[in-house]
Amino acid sequence: MSMTKIEIITRPNKLDDLKDALNEIGVLGMTVSQVYGCGLQKGHKEVYRGRSYDINLVPKVKVETVVCEIPVETVLEAAQKVLRTGKMGDGKIFVYNLSDAVRIRTGHRGEAAIKDIPGEKPES
Ligand SMILES: Nc1ncnc2c1ncn2[C@@H]1O[C@H](COP(=O)(O)OP(=O)(O)OP(=O)(O)O)[C@@H](O)[C@H]1O
Ligand SMILES: [Mg+2]
Repeated sequence: MSMTKIEIITRPNKLDDLKDALNEIGVLGMTVSQVYGCGLQKGHKEVYRGRSYDINLVPKVKVETVVCEIPVETVLEAAQKVLRTGKMGDGKIFVYNLSDAVRIRTGHRGEAAIKDIPGEKPES
């Protein structure tokens, strides 16, 4: 089975909804970063927290997740469902084929590095 990295760049105020939607479809891990970006409008027409950004870079949030068992389309649909407002700046999703992964603690590689370890409970 192949591994895919999905990178979602969107409005910071959508982070909670996006996290909930991803948890609901069984996404196991994610990385979240605060970033600045611009798309086609170079930031000119975007409003963030009531303020219109006349500079090039608008605050965004980036959520990265790697999936193997969950279909990529399921993730794309769940993300679009919560993120689409129809206004400029809703965001972008980039999809990458991932060549490998390592769980450092165990040395697991590939899918085994992403999946749960059967019978293992999280440390308290
Ligand atoms: N070509 C690109 N390469 C890398 N990052 C991009 C690219 N386009 C957009 N992004 C990132 O995605 C964020 C959201 O982009 P945005 O939603 O404004 O895209 P858009 O193509 O301009 O669509 P819209 O017309 O809906 O605004 C940007 O702030 C930037 O961080
Ligand atoms: Mg844009």
